[in-house]
Amino acid sequence: MNKKLRKAVIAGNWKMNKTRPEAKALIGELAPLVKDADCGVVICVPYTNLETALEATKGTNIGVGAENCHWAESGAFTGEISARMLAEMGVQYVVIGHSERRQYFGETDVTVQKRVRAALDAGLTVILCVGELLEQREAGITEEIVGMQTKVALGGVTKEELAKIILAYEPVWAIGTGKTATAAQANEVNHYIRTVVAGLYDQAAADAMTIQYGGSMNAKNAEELLDQEDVDGGLIGGASLKAPDFAAIVKAASR
Ligand code: 13P
Repeated sequence: MNKKLRKAVIAGNWKMNKTRPEAKALIGELAPLVKDADCGVVICVPYTNLETALEATKGTNIGVGAENCHWAESGAFTGEISARMLAEMGVQYVVIGHSERRQYFGETDVTVQKRVRAALDAGLTVILCVGELLEQREAGITEEIVGMQTKVALGGVTKEELAKIILAYEPVWAIGTGKTATAAQANEVNHYIRTVVAGLYDQAAADAMTIQYGGSMNAKNAEELLDQEDVDGGLIGGASLKAPDFAAIVKAASR
């Protein structure tokens, strides 16, 4: 019932893929396929593709995001990009706390919180990722893990600022593995995350929160996942690199 109150958002996370000409070609193919979408459509691309993506999506319904940002406004942080630099370019979204950043680049709940703060201060909309490892699921602590990740990341975020937050539940064992969470598993954890948001703020805030699922979502399984009451869209890796596949997921979310 509350699902209708929320906006579904399908976001692509290109990860470390596509040169500029490849990015331009993919967006050129994608734009006409998603132009009638009845959901939010976003592509999060490597920093080197942001300018190309902003140019290629002009006049379309596709929003553009980065895949990370630093928490400082500027300074001696070699190799980093600030939220302000992104906002100044016209970037609207940023993925924060992706499990690949947590696994390979030392991201912690605390640095996620700092990045969320910086992104909100710069006016960006955050796609905030949480999710458990396989060992954690097997140990029966999925709720503890995603609950803590959500609580720490939202530390200091006001109720008004929640309008600029999209949550994404991405079980780490389902990312890039072809092993999707079942629709019931995705819905169960998404629902739990919503109760955490209700506990931190209130039920109205939780009901309004877009909570995506991510992890091997594709053209075939999207419909079943997106039909779940607490699944409000998807964060798509591999399938976002092929225009027809990504468009099929957007279509499934638009029904
Ligand atoms: P896959 O869709 O490739 O499993 O990746 C999911 C993901 O990590 C999106 O952020």
